[in-house]
This record gives sequence, C-alpha cells and structure tokens, in this order.
Amino acid sequence: MKVNLRVWRQDGPADRGRLVGYRVDDADEDMSFLELMDVLNEKLILDGGEPVAFDHDCREGICGACSMVINGQPHGPQKATTTCQLHMRHFRDGETITVEPFRASAFPVVKDLVVDRTAFDRVIASGGYVSAPTGAAPEAHATPVPKANADRAFTAAACIGCGACVAACSNGSGSLFLGAKITHLGEMPQGQPERTQRVVRMVAQHDAEGFGGCTNTGECAVACPKEIPLDVISQLNRDYLTATTGGRRTA
Ligand code: FES
Repeated sequence: MKVNLRVWRQDGPADRGRLVGYRVDDADEDMSFLELMDVLNEKLILDGGEPVAFDHDCREGICGACSMVINGQPHGPQKATTTCQLHMRHFRDGETITVEPFRASAFPVVKDLVVDRTAFDRVIASGGYVSAPTGAAPEAHATPVPKANADRAFTAAACIGCGACVAACSNGSGSLFLGAKITHLGEMPQGQPERTQRVVRMVAQHDAEGFGGCTNTGECAVACPKEIPLDVISQLNRDYLTATTGGRRTA
C-alpha cells in the first residue's frame, strides 16, 4: 500500500518546526506504524537525508515510549492501542497521514517527534517511597486485600506513563496519569502509611511542572491506550481533599 505522510520536523527545542511531506510506496498492511516510520527512515538515509527522530523501546505496548499524534489523535485512531501496536491495515491505501509529537508545555519537543517527558519521572519521584517491608515474597494471604480494591489497583497500575492523556487534554493536564498512580498505591494496604503526604507532594510537583488543571472533558480517558478510567481523577481529588483539609477518607 502507498501512503502520504506529513511529518513534523523540528531540529531542536528552539526551532519553530514544520510539517514535511513524504511518500512511502512500499508499506504493508501488516506493518506496525513504527515499522512504517522505519521504512521511511531507511529511505531517507539512503537518499542522504536525516531520519525522523521518534521514541520507541519495547514495541509491545508496555513501555509507553512511542508517543506520536497520528491524524490528530495520540497513538492514532485505534482504541486502546499504542502507536507500536497500531497496524497499517487501519489506514486506507493512498491515505494522507499527519504525524506530530505529543504537544504540551510540560513536554517540550526535543527533536522531530521526540518530546521530553521527564516531568512524569519527577512527579513519580516526588511521591517518595513506600515503607512496606521488603525481602522474600510474603505468603499470598499474609496481607488480605479485598477483591474490589485489588482489581482497582490493577486497573490503575496498567498506566504505562506514555503521556497520551496530557497530549489529548486541552489543558495539558496530567491528572489521569497522576490519578492512576495515586489510585494504584492508595487501594493497597501497603500504600496507606504515606498516602496523605504522597498525594500532596505529587499534586504540587504536577503543578510545578506546568501541567494544567482538570476540567473534566474526559479526552484523556478516551486517548489512553490502557483504558485507565476517568474516575481515578475522582480518587485523586478525594485523597487530595482529605489530605489538605484533614477530612475523613471515604474511599
Ligand atoms: S514502544 Fe513501548 S509501548 Fe510502544
């Protein structure tokens, strides 16, 4: 299949950047989108041009590195699918596809499609440690966890920190990511001792990094390749309110 690509090229953070058109004549419908970008880059290199810089690592939907906006949607048009798991059969032969970086003030462009997402790392680090004892794996029933809490913690733990939620949000908010991290630990007994200080520190770091506030548009949950539910933001807000007002925790 043939596709026309309009790819964001930007030499560095100070460059204004622009969309550049390329044609790929030998795409295959079974290729992933990253493999399409590989084909484009091989062609560019053979022609003496500079390959398009883009992030990737696992190519299995695990690491969250493959951050691209494809035809206006973070990770492209397929629901619950990362760019590396997106296949060309979801595009039409002859289609024009626009590829841009995740855009948010907290994710400055490094080059082409690569953005700096270390703000997420700093938000995670600000949460501090969990003071649960470590060592050999404990007996499975040593710490009882209600099924509903375990399920909710697992759902939140599916967040791969890709940043699609931020790219989809008109406010550039990282609230879905933050809510997932807060819920992940807040649902487990091991996450209780530092629960209050963790949410206060992480919200402060989130705001200091330049992420916007949440206005409940819900685009984040739609764009999330791991289908993190919007109500983790409710959990985040409840925990923050409890921590900052000394109120009684309700969930
Ligand atoms: S490259 Fe790891 S999730 Fe896509």
